[in-house]
Amino acid sequence: MCGIFGLITKRNDIPVATIIREGLQRLEYRGYDSAGIALVNNGKIELRKEAGRIDDINKNGLFDSMQGTFGVGHTRWATHGAPVAKNSHPHMDGNGKVAVVHNGIIENFQQLRKELSDRGHVFTSDTDSEVFPHLISEFLDQGKDLKEAVMETIKRCEGAYGIVVCHADTPDYMIVARKESPLTIGITPGETTYCASDIPAFLPLTKTAYILEDDEIAVLYAGEVEIFDVLTGKKRERSPTEVPWSIDAAAKVMNGREYKWFMHKELHEVPRTLKEQVNAPLEDIDAFARAIMEADHVYITAAGTSYYASLAGKFQINKFCGTFIEAILCSEFIDQLPTLPHKTCVIAVSQSGETADTIEAIRYAKEKYGATICSLVNVVGSSITRYSDHIIITTAGPEVAVASQKTYCAQVTALTVVALRIAELRCDMDMKEIAKYKEALQKTADIIESILNNEDKIQEIARIFAKEQNIFFLGRGLSLSAACEGALKIKEISYNHAEAYSAGEAKHGPIALVEYGFSVVFVGPPDETYDRLIGNVMEMKSRGGKILAVVADFDTKITELADYTLRVPIENSKYAIAMSAVPFAFPLQLMAYFAADYNEFDPDKPRNLAKSVTVK
Ligand code: M6R
Repeated sequence: MCGIFGLITKRNDIPVATIIREGLQRLEYRGYDSAGIALVNNGKIELRKEAGRIDDINKNGLFDSMQGTFGVGHTRWATHGAPVAKNSHPHMDGNGKVAVVHNGIIENFQQLRKELSDRGHVFTSDTDSEVFPHLISEFLDQGKDLKEAVMETIKRCEGAYGIVVCHADTPDYMIVARKESPLTIGITPGETTYCASDIPAFLPLTKTAYILEDDEIAVLYAGEVEIFDVLTGKKRERSPTEVPWSIDAAAKVMNGREYKWFMHKELHEVPRTLKEQVNAPLEDIDAFARAIMEADHVYITAAGTSYYASLAGKFQINKFCGTFIEAILCSEFIDQLPTLPHKTCVIAVSQSGETADTIEAIRYAKEKYGATICSLVNVVGSSITRYSDHIIITTAGPEVAVASQKTYCAQVTALTVVALRIAELRCDMDMKEIAKYKEALQKTADIIESILNNEDKIQEIARIFAKEQNIFFLGRGLSLSAACEGALKIKEISYNHAEAYSAGEAKHGPIALVEYGFSVVFVGPPDETYDRLIGNVMEMKSRGGKILAVVADFDTKITELADYTLRVPIENSKYAIAMSAVPFAFPLQLMAYFAADYNEFDPDKPRNLAKSVTVK
């Protein structure tokens, strides 16, 4: 949560403030309730910050007109203190010499604030972050240089941070440091150095990057970087890496087509994502599969959309492998599992790899009970990977829209690949059968392509449901995952109140709400749940429910009962039907997108949400 973007350059022909402002805008998916920039100029720091979105703040050039040779900006998702100008970053010390931006939470900030206040420091915000410039300033007054002062400061701070520090009197460099909050460095060697919370923010400027590790501090000179271990103070030699992502990842353009929103573009990237996911490196899949097989107890844990992908993954692993895996929300992991048995494996699923609840769950499992951690993440080098024994990187590439969508499709596919690999390794299923399932999984990319080629139909249906106050999403078995994902998506980006239930559970209470015209969406692939689902459709229909069903395009029975259908072009074979999780969820993701667009909401930046949820 919160986006940081800074730069230091030798060039004097580039608009530093504008480049920082544009970098922040590429990070607005991390938070967008206020923003600010600090630039160093001739021994002074110029600071401008306001509540609101960057476009609005900069309407009359508030940021772009700033003068300075280097500096840093921040776009905020409020945790400590309301989203008002005084709580926006950067924060300064009392002398107006030190400017700091911070992403994360300092847990002992109250104690530090009290100590500093007692020594005469005056705080101007309600944030935890403001302790940084005041502490740094004290260490500077004791004669330390800026790097030493920052090192001493972070030793005093408990919690998570990604910080950038600029000083008015040190025009040649700025300092960055991180612990449990992301911070990446981009470089055009010999010329310009950037720092940002996520790589896509500097992709249009450079693809050469350093990933800062926890407990590291770096001195950023223009076109040069030095990295140090905070605990020992020793320099760490590291070569930069080339980021394999396309520059288009940071733009709403794909194959020459300009999309209105990132979410629409990213939904159109799903076929490519799936083709790459089924061909992910076998050694990663193998290591995952073997860890699951060797464990006596396996849990899969995640939040939000990643949790719903985990429900599908759990179903597939249980079905193909005869194993029993329990899915558990990461925010409930410690409370629901006060002890863990011997030989436990925990599968952590996360798009960002930075979700604080997921990190807390796996650290607890690993550090307290020695569990093996297998993680499925979309961001290389993210925090979750550092606590993991085995890692699969999903092939979605950068996902800019706040609501996850292509990563859900990649996660479900990756977990299905793992399930089929375990089935192969266990040798208790006919290999020819497994091959046919794998072939069917390969074909899901074509199914999604075909759905996208007919997206007008989904757009029409979205308009019919876009204004609904309440919608139920119901499915059974594997399709519970798609029902949950469909409900979450329309809730978070189109603001329709939506609830997902197992279709069998709906009669135990939720059905009380159903009366004439109440919207109910059924996810109805022709699998082993189909006949029982028909009964559930009839229960809703007979009470006046307005029924939308996601069905196979050869479907007849549910189609007769439903008011509207979204038809999925899958083959009528048990292999294709077993791979229905992504093809039956995808139309609901697309429908949510079109509903948000029809309602004139910004689907890329839904209110109150941020892409990485780094608070517990
Ligand atoms: O980065 P993660 O996958 O760990 O994030 C988990 C959830 O915060 C995330 O899926 C969230 O629910 C999104 N808003 C879903 O669109």
